Amino acid sequence: MQDIRKTIERINELKHMRNAVILAHNYERGEIQDVADFTGDSLGLSQQAVQQKADVIVFCGVHFMAESAAILSPHKTVLLPELHAGCPMASMVTAGAMREEKKKYPEAAVVCYVNSTAEVKAESDICCTSANAIEVVNSLNEEEVLFVPDRNLADYVARNTDKRIIPWNGHCPTHNQILVSDMIKARKAHPDAEVLAHPECRREVLDLSDKIYSTTGMLDHAGRSATKEFIVATEKGILHKLEKDNPGKKFYSASDFAVCPDMKAIDLDALLLSLEKMQHIISVPEDVRVRAKLALDRMLAIKRNR
Ligand code: 13P
Ligand code: SF4
Repeated sequence: MQDIRKTIERINELKHMRNAVILAHNYERGEIQDVADFTGDSLGLSQQAVQQKADVIVFCGVHFMAESAAILSPHKTVLLPELHAGCPMASMVTAGAMREEKKKYPEAAVVCYVNSTAEVKAESDICCTSANAIEVVNSLNEEEVLFVPDRNLADYVARNTDKRIIPWNGHCPTHNQILVSDMIKARKAHPDAEVLAHPECRREVLDLSDKIYSTTGMLDHAGRSATKEFIVATEKGILHKLEKDNPGKKFYSASDFAVCPDMKAIDLDALLLSLEKMQHIISVPEDVRVRAKLALDRMLAIKRNR
């Protein structure tokens, strides 16, 4: 306990010394969320990355998130405390494969989920997150949309727009392994609970849910709802803030296996080391950065509804 307190004190000292800000995703370890200056979903954290006045952004999340911050704020130093914290879904599409696919659909607009590399963003017309995917797609003039890399989010959007969505065949391993049987079991165990699901889940899981939200959307909904119990079909890290913000309410994970190992890679020691050694600096080659920024800027120009 004493050691943890000391580590946190040292993190805060170094943060001030370096004029740094700590951003953490809603799936990060509880102790990382607690020490962060801002927590949020992918959209909220991208917005924070733009607004921050600090010289250094320590990004407690996965690689594509730190990369997005580096794309949006090239004059700040962006640190990712654990370099191996990646996103398997983001690795399911490459810029080269996408260029080939684009040739098949010359009339289509290209929308990429932020869970993608800078190179893929640079090949896209606009980015989206789980919080604004439908709005982003509906904002386009084109009637056909190539949507990469998440097939589940693409399917969710397709069911909520008149546009023709051409999905890429990627998925999030953490969300994809939440099954119908998990949902049925959870509903049976907690019959009065409202079921909140993330759109990275399979269609049949979403069909068994009451509400579909991004992680911050879930937090907002749980805060304003009169319901006292919730089943949550997303990565378990979200339970930390749901419970903290809503002491009178109960939250149950739809699956015990809904854990993203990459989102758990950063602990307090890694965060401290990152501030001490100024590691690991994330940067993007300028030609790629400029094109990727266009796709992110177009997304950020669309107001948040969810
Ligand atoms: P959001 O927090 O934007 O809903 O994202 C989920 C996710 O999987 C991030 O990796
Ligand atoms: Fe990627 Fe899924 Fe982990 Fe999010 S939860 S970082 S989408 S693997």
